Amino acid sequence: MLFAGCAAVADKADLISLRNVTRHYKSGDRAVHALDGVSLEIAQNEFVAVSGPSGCGKTTLIHLLAGLERPTSGEIFVGDLAVHKADDTALTDFRRRQLGLVFQFFNLLPTMNVLENVSFPLLLQGVAPRESEQRAQEVIELVGLSERARHFIHQLSGGEQQRTAIARALVHRPSLLIADEPTGNLDSHSAASVMQLLEKIGAGQLTTLIVVTHSDEVAQAASRRVEMRDGKIVRDSFASS
Ligand SMILES: Nc1ncnc2c1ncn2[C@@H]1O[C@H](COP(=O)(O)OP(=O)(O)O)[C@@H](O)[C@H]1O
Ligand SMILES: [Mg+2]
Repeated sequence: MLFAGCAAVADKADLISLRNVTRHYKSGDRAVHALDGVSLEIAQNEFVAVSGPSGCGKTTLIHLLAGLERPTSGEIFVGDLAVHKADDTALTDFRRRQLGLVFQFFNLLPTMNVLENVSFPLLLQGVAPRESEQRAQEVIELVGLSERARHFIHQLSGGEQQRTAIARALVHRPSLLIADEPTGNLDSHSAASVMQLLEKIGAGQLTTLIVVTHSDEVAQAASRRVEMRDGKIVRDSFASS
């Protein structure tokens, strides 16, 4: 069996820690427990696949980790940052410097070409245009789009657009890359190219990688597999080496 059911052993190098995190929403007069007591520790450069049925809390987990939402209770640490209580300035700085986010819809800028889309975050950070372009070229090569660098977004296939979005999410060298169902809007051929890229990034340990996915293939490539149901983690297994 690829995944042994061994218990998580945390060490001091843990980059990410969730401690008894809950997130409740009000829906009419009903309370929805989107996350219901989640504790999880993820070490630096781990490659984690998160799966579970629609509505089980995967996106809520991602949004809390990214500081896009606050937990109802519990604590969330990413490195030294207490994400659950950080102020907006600290969270903006955290997202800009440490975090790469990839969503189902690519959110690329249609009036810019691939190179401009990918270098944009660096320019926003004040990196000089020449260095921005050079670093963007490097990640564009990593995602296999060097030939397409001067193409506009509408000239790309869905898979190429998502690979551009992944390049943009990596260009500032984040310590954590999170992808929420990155192939959910792609045909199977495009999805395969995106999955292969994520597997390459995960295997190369370029960054800690958390991928929310229904894909067994990605889950099997991951070093760890977290399965959720009804706001809880029901299985957390590591690949046996
Ligand atoms: N802003 C919100 N308001 C009310 N309910 C929400 C909100 N966001 C998510 N939920 C609910 O929380 C639960 C978990 O949602 P979500 O994290 O998006 O699940 P998943 O990503 O696994 O499909 C679902 O029941 C969803 O309807
Ligand atoms: Mg979701």
